Amino acid sequence: IFELLVKGLMRLEYRGYDSAGKNTTKDNNQDIVLIKKKGKVKALDEELYKKDCMNLEAVLGTHFGIAHTRWATHGEPNAINSHPHRSDKNNEFVVIHNGIITNYKELKKYLNSKGYEFESETDTEVIPKLIKYVYDNRERDDLSFSTLVERVIQQLEGAFALVFKSRYFPGEAVATRRGSPLLIGVRSQHELSAEHIPIQSSIMTTKHTFDQISLCSVTGDGKGMEYYFASDASAIIEHTNKVIYLEDDDIAAVVSGKLSIHRLNRQAGEDPVRAIQTLQMELQEIMKGNFEAFMQKEIFEQPESVFNTMRGRICFETNKVVLGGLKDHLKEIKRCRRLIVIGCGTSFHAAVATRQILEELTELPVMVELASDFLDRNTPVFRDDVCFYISQSGETADTLMALRYCKERGALTVGVTNTVGSSICRETDCGVHINAGPEIGVASTKAYTSQFVSLIMFGLMMSEDRISLQGRRLEIINGLRTLPDMIKKVLALDKNIKSIADELYEQKSLLVMGRGFNYATCLEGALKIKEITYMHSEGILAGELKHGPLALIDKDMPVIMIIMRDACYTKCQNALQQVTARSGRPIILCCQDDPEVSKNAYKTIGLPQTVDCLQGILSVIPLQLMSFHLAVLRGFDVDCPRNLAKSVTVE
Ligand code: F6R
Repeated sequence: IFELLVKGLMRLEYRGYDSAGKNTTKDNNQDIVLIKKKGKVKALDEELYKKDCMNLEAVLGTHFGIAHTRWATHGEPNAINSHPHRSDKNNEFVVIHNGIITNYKELKKYLNSKGYEFESETDTEVIPKLIKYVYDNRERDDLSFSTLVERVIQQLEGAFALVFKSRYFPGEAVATRRGSPLLIGVRSQHELSAEHIPIQSSIMTTKHTFDQISLCSVTGDGKGMEYYFASDASAIIEHTNKVIYLEDDDIAAVVSGKLSIHRLNRQAGEDPVRAIQTLQMELQEIMKGNFEAFMQKEIFEQPESVFNTMRGRICFETNKVVLGGLKDHLKEIKRCRRLIVIGCGTSFHAAVATRQILEELTELPVMVELASDFLDRNTPVFRDDVCFYISQSGETADTLMALRYCKERGALTVGVTNTVGSSICRETDCGVHINAGPEIGVASTKAYTSQFVSLIMFGLMMSEDRISLQGRRLEIINGLRTLPDMIKKVLALDKNIKSIADELYEQKSLLVMGRGFNYATCLEGALKIKEITYMHSEGILAGELKHGPLALIDKDMPVIMIIMRDACYTKCQNALQQVTARSGRPIILCCQDDPEVSKNAYKTIGLPQTVDCLQGILSVIPLQLMSFHLAVLRGFDVDCPRNLAKSVTVE
């Protein structure tokens, strides 16, 4: 079980965290052993071996465990603040939590007034204290563990995925969620006969194994079923590809090896079921192979990931594009007043990158919105708006909140995600799965290019019956057909890019400048550089150069300029003149064989030329590679940038 938990946490390392902890119990034994450590899962693993020697008796034969990696929201990353949190020194109740409790101050004050003492600075600690309070003040002795949990979550505000364990309920564990993701992996030694888990009834059993996110847990006796609770399928995929996605306010309990799921405040007549779904993910997809880092592997996977995004959706003979998840809603989308495309970070940049071509192909106004800002502004949304949510993880809290906000106002909601079964997938009316395969590197790369292609395919689908757009459509479809090969050609420039990185890696700043279809590349390139190299980097719209950023330019400021042969070519050349006139020494991303631009460049990276609206897919790749090399040269862990998490499930 230790190995399973630690491996599960390692598979989740990419989500980003700063401390790790776990507990184990022996089911017949009421002892709960807590082990916590600041830093990497490896540090926890080493600690385990020290502790295990001391507690060998307590942990041998264990078949239940929970484990957690914490990304600090309240309180610094240290062992005390890491999970599991406990009700008291005897570990009567322990809990792991993914999310944020927004009313924790009120709860803490109340519990303090009742004599409960807190040891950490976290919001989470109110949960084990609260369950102990409910237990200590129970009106009957026969209250079940899941009833206690139900009472606790009635008091909680915010977002949570939780797993509880208690010494009063040996052989039992209870898990629940609201807002934060939680799935149950189900493994049977026999073929699973049940396809759906009816709520409030149980399925077979003997062994049950848990494993949860940033939470992760295990139990069982090795005979029949195993259950793994996890925030993310990558933690459990090596054990099972059968999963149940829990909905908000589902309470799942394993009691003596039997799993049951029930609803908080279940209404009479409500009898939902939870389907057991089969994941397509393969273990090798979440392994690094021969690459130095997941990010590098994912950059090099782009010829295939982009191809997989298009697979079965574009017919190159008939020039038809069909996105199965949208086709039933196409009429409604065509009638809408405007498209609003919402995301955060890289996913937002995919919206920026495709805005112009979406406007051209759909002939609709297209707003692109950062989810947090969209919410801050209480943006007016109407019933005849169509809102797209771009999200690799499908779990980003800001994007999810924006989705709920628009849903309440009656807009049609469309998800564009890479994670089947994610909250955004489930809560949108319809959607597109980008099929890029699991993305483990915290810095998003292949998801961006697949989001880009998905949005272009949507534009093509919308414009199929527009006679005046057929020439343009054909050009783009032909561009998409050759895209994977073009990406391979760009990847072949890696050595050249590395040699430029060798010159740049000691710099403090790096500006990235461009306009038109390549403006999003500047934003995305600069984001990649800052998040993994910790250099200051800014994506600058070349049209804004003379309105301020030009003041930064001198012979010492490194600048990357993107100058492709498109409608902005002449304007970009003007910007280039303005930079060189101030002794700037630009590194230029341009089309191969462009002597005009090259002669003014300090260095050039020549790219194959494609259709203007697809060029951004090619121009971003050298910047992905550049950021990777810069980070390695500066000695940083590319896949685990400091302070960042892969899936940002808190607002
Ligand atoms: C940057 C990056 C982030 C994410 C953002 C949204 O490399 O990965 O900026 O793009 O946190 O995440 P998703 O797409 O999962 O909603």
